[in-house]
Amino acid sequence: MKLSKRLKSICDFVPNNSKIIDIGADHALVDIYLTKEKNCKCLATDISEKCIKKAKENIKKYNVNVKTKVTDGLNGINIKNEIILISGMGTHNILKILNKNIKNDLIISSHNDIPLLHKKLQKRGYRIKNEQVIYDKHFYIITYYEQKKHKKQNNYLTEFIKDKEYTKYLLKKYEIKYKNEKNIIKKLNYYKIIKKLNKKSTNK
Ligand SMILES: C[S@@+](CC[C@H](N)C(=O)[O-])C[C@H]1O[C@@H](n2cnc3c(N)ncnc32)[C@H](O)[C@@H]1O
Repeated sequence: MKLSKRLKSICDFVPNNSKIIDIGADHALVDIYLTKEKNCKCLATDISEKCIKKAKENIKKYNVNVKTKVTDGLNGINIKNEIILISGMGTHNILKILNKNIKNDLIISSHNDIPLLHKKLQKRGYRIKNEQVIYDKHFYIITYYEQKKHKKQNNYLTEFIKDKEYTKYLLKKYEIKYKNEKNIIKKLNYYKIIKKLNKKSTNK
């Protein structure tokens, strides 16, 4: 089964044999792939009945066992120790969905306001276990969060700022000037970007 680079990268974050609750699963292609290729048990949920209808058609087509549910966020779901997966939504919606007393591992790919998401989850005891930036027509950031095992949080964004192309994109976006492309990683002074991004998120 062939997935887009973005969806395949999300699947690569999921350990084999995991139990997954996929919120906003839409087509459920991630859940189908994880069931088929990584022996996962998935619940594909979406707020839209139309999406779940499409998901069911895909599940039938690939002949796999993926459960589905129409619901808003985590409402009505009996949460145990599953990994909660959310991709393709904005940070505000994601935070609304996660506004419950849960400590589950999270795999999240938000398409905006990532410093804010990091900060809010950090306050709830989450730490970044793994984070990756990928380019699939746009930049996407995928983050694995888990409850803190160590006190110190890695700096916001430092993980994926190692990616040169994404760094250039951020520099352009936040109009931070740099002189020498060749030496960009050394030169960029990424703390300046982090400071700017953090400042932006504290203003919200
Ligand atoms: C852009 S799609 C992303 C689909 C898929 N997760 C992906 O990454 O390709 C966002 C999906 O989230 C669903 N959604 C938005 N808000 C939701 C909520 N509060 N609860 C459940 N699903 C939601 C939408 O109906 C839509 O199907």
